[in-house]
Amino acid sequence: MVATADQVFVTAGAGHAVDLIARVLLEPGDTVAMEEPGYPVVAELLCSHGLRVTGVPVDDEGIVVDALPAQAKLIYVTPSHQFPLGMVLSRRRRYALLDWAGTNGAAVIEDDYDSEFRHTARPLEPLQRLDRDGRVLYVGTFAKTLSAGLRLGFVIAPATLLPALRAIRQVTDWSPPTTTQTALVEFITGGYLDRHLRRARAVYAERRRLMWEALAESLPARYRRLPAVAGLHLTVRADRAPDSGYDTDAALRRRGLRCSLLETTYQFSQPSAGYLLGFAGLATPLVQPAVQVFTTVLAETASRCGSA
Ligand SMILES: Cc1ncc(COP(=O)(O)O)c(C=O)c1O
Repeated sequence: MVATADQVFVTAGAGHAVDLIARVLLEPGDTVAMEEPGYPVVAELLCSHGLRVTGVPVDDEGIVVDALPAQAKLIYVTPSHQFPLGMVLSRRRRYALLDWAGTNGAAVIEDDYDSEFRHTARPLEPLQRLDRDGRVLYVGTFAKTLSAGLRLGFVIAPATLLPALRAIRQVTDWSPPTTTQTALVEFITGGYLDRHLRRARAVYAERRRLMWEALAESLPARYRRLPAVAGLHLTVRADRAPDSGYDTDAALRRRGLRCSLLETTYQFSQPSAGYLLGFAGLATPLVQPAVQVFTTVLAETASRCGSA
């Protein structure tokens, strides 16, 4: 990241950062584009500002830049690890997106919510570094690295937006509690965050490997594991729309599992069925048994729905 201290605004997480940006840059009725499927919390947040939120398809290279609506004033993307499907925004799409934003006078939110946990390839340069035009607002969070309950994140803003961001803070929240921020600063400068990340990366990489392999063994044929280079969940997607009539989610809960449904991440188009499977919160010895229960429930659902 290339930034001076005054470009960094501490927020109560990534969602709060998006909220501040929307207040500064947009007016009710403006168009915002986001990935489809995408992060539903941000879609709802932007709608609550009276914005026209449109979904833009993603393919293997991330958001399809050619499909952006010309009137979009803001584009929200997750380039390091697309939420929820997991692909990385390719290098040429990164440049295409920045070109598009420059030509159309739009800003870009780069939500880098979980790339501290990168399991395989080297990261591509963030949009924020490639941006020569002051278009990109980089959003980070401590929700995945430390705790979602900590409610701390940040936005790195281009110099031109600093006065407006400062002004909006004065009339909204000032900042998250400075006592928590001070404790976090000591945690970071004391080297504890780095140490924690080193340990956590090794633990999560192992849980991820176990989950990936266990899924390969028992996932019913109608589901596919989606590759992901980073993050704390794996996504499995079905080759068709969600079933109606039999509640797999309730059956999973009865067996003690809670998985996010992929369909909830589709806001603008026909959803695919599937699940987001978090592995960070499962003790390592429980990963394989949990996958067993999960895939057994999926297989039972398929037989009840007559679609093995
Ligand atoms: C795409 C995405 N962005 C950001 C976050 C974290 O948001 P916050 O920092 O507001 O808790 C999440 C959490 O799941 C997420 O999935």
